[in-house]
Amino acid sequence: MGPSRNGGVPSLRRKSARADEPRDGRRAGWNVSGAGVRARPQRPASGSEANDSECVRSGSGGGGAVVWVGRGGIRSPAPLAPGRYNSKEFFTDNLWGTLPCSWQEALDGLNPPQLATLLLGMPGEGEVVRYRSVWPLTLLALKSTAYALAFTRMPGFQTPSEFLENPSQSSRLTAPFRKHVRPKKQHEIRRLGELVKKLSDLTGCTQVVDVGSGQGHLSRFMSLGLGLKVKSIEGNPRLVERAQRLDQELLQALEKEEKKNPQVAQTGPRHSPYHVVQWVDPTALCGELLLPLDSSQCGSARLLLTGLHACGDLSVALLRHFCCCPEVVALASVGCCYMKLSDPGGYPLSQWVAGLPGYELPYRLREGACHALEEYAKRLQKAGPGLRTHCYRAALEMVIRRARPELRRPGVQGIPRVHELKIEEYVQRGLQRVGLDPHLPLNLATLRAHQAQENRVVAFFSLALLLAPLVETLILLDRLLYLQEQGFHAELLPIFSPELSPRNLVLVATKMPLGQAFSALETEDS
Ligand SMILES: C[S@@+](CC[C@H](N)C(=O)[O-])C[C@H]1O[C@@H](n2cnc3c(N)ncnc32)[C@H](O)[C@@H]1O
Repeated sequence: MGPSRNGGVPSLRRKSARADEPRDGRRAGWNVSGAGVRARPQRPASGSEANDSECVRSGSGGGGAVVWVGRGGIRSPAPLAPGRYNSKEFFTDNLWGTLPCSWQEALDGLNPPQLATLLLGMPGEGEVVRYRSVWPLTLLALKSTAYALAFTRMPGFQTPSEFLENPSQSSRLTAPFRKHVRPKKQHEIRRLGELVKKLSDLTGCTQVVDVGSGQGHLSRFMSLGLGLKVKSIEGNPRLVERAQRLDQELLQALEKEEKKNPQVAQTGPRHSPYHVVQWVDPTALCGELLLPLDSSQCGSARLLLTGLHACGDLSVALLRHFCCCPEVVALASVGCCYMKLSDPGGYPLSQWVAGLPGYELPYRLREGACHALEEYAKRLQKAGPGLRTHCYRAALEMVIRRARPELRRPGVQGIPRVHELKIEEYVQRGLQRVGLDPHLPLNLATLRAHQAQENRVVAFFSLALLLAPLVETLILLDRLLYLQEQGFHAELLPIFSPELSPRNLVLVATKMPLGQAFSALETEDS
């Protein structure tokens, strides 16, 4: 039952997370009991913000920063402020100077592995966590709160067992299903495909609709691997053409295998996915999406909608179709690209989040939520030269602003082997990329001074990244509550290994209660 149905306060259990504990995911997040719902936030009953918030004031250093911990989530003066998130503006906007002095003292001089361990809470294997100074309470509170309020991203399995023998070939997919599919995608299609199959069986679905199906890897596995009837909807015709070619190739490979091995031959007919080229308008109902493959099922079809990394508003479109259409009985949606969400329209969806003071998520916070925290922590632990790019890019922004002040944060992707370049070489290439004169006179002394602050830039970026899971939590929690508010049953389950696939939470929803069966959806089949 959702908050609007029972009008009450959602019950909540939150696992504790200590600031100095490693972030293994299992300690963090909401763990909520209630009618078929795993995750729910606590709605304050009443009262002023001061009553239901905890205000922690820095006792050390000269910063006097305030971090509010309360119903609006967390707010701190520096890293959460709109426009202060992107490390590209580290020098142009003096981002380091926006941090309280006590935070600067704690973070200054920390090398990348120390940042991974102390700030992100992800120590190297066997590493003992030791602070070299006493950190201000405000910084510890931010770190601790960011852990505690973010959904757990740890699935019920450790390193995916399918890659123990060979890191690039899932042992749980047969060779034809692995062909042309990268390991990350192998893991994703297998895990999500198996969840969809279980959900389809539990809810008596007659057809799965894979929306934003791309090259059709998930659709292909669900139909030809798991025997589901699948319609695949994708807006890009080139991807659909490739998907159809891959379907044919797989069918031939499976037939060949059967000839060699008649005892494993499939009994019934094989159904390839049915591909449709169509852009789904997120603001309207899509007739094609609802049309059953079997015309005799008009009026009796039971559809399950799924989307693997359905970006931006596409995930929202799935939710709306689920809510509005009686023939859609189940949903399994993994979102991504939160920065592409329409504003307004894509967030917030729920009345609950819309009612929170300060619920707005500016573009850069949503963009930050798409970063891969676990992968970045590994990069920090390795302290590879690639981390230099943050500082180089921030220095380039200074030069760009001076040459053309109206040009802000232009994309300069694709400069190869940045770590082998001197800072001035990088800046010259960057200027060229954004259409400026690469031979502009450069102040080498200033560039070197910027380069000397490399660790500070990385520290600032890490600080911002600390909040990424929290922002993602708020976006997904909003979707979950939107479904609950209309009386549907919903859970958020971490199904992919976050190291392999950082956008790893699947929103599962049904119109009938599944009770304990929800938990079985994420378990690894033996
Ligand atoms: C991140 S990709 C994921 C592709 C695929 N599901 C996978 O995981 O391999 C998102 C896909 O959704 C498609 N897409 C995005 N918005 C769409 C829309 N409104 N209608 C149809 N397709 C859309 C894109 O063209 C892209 O192929």
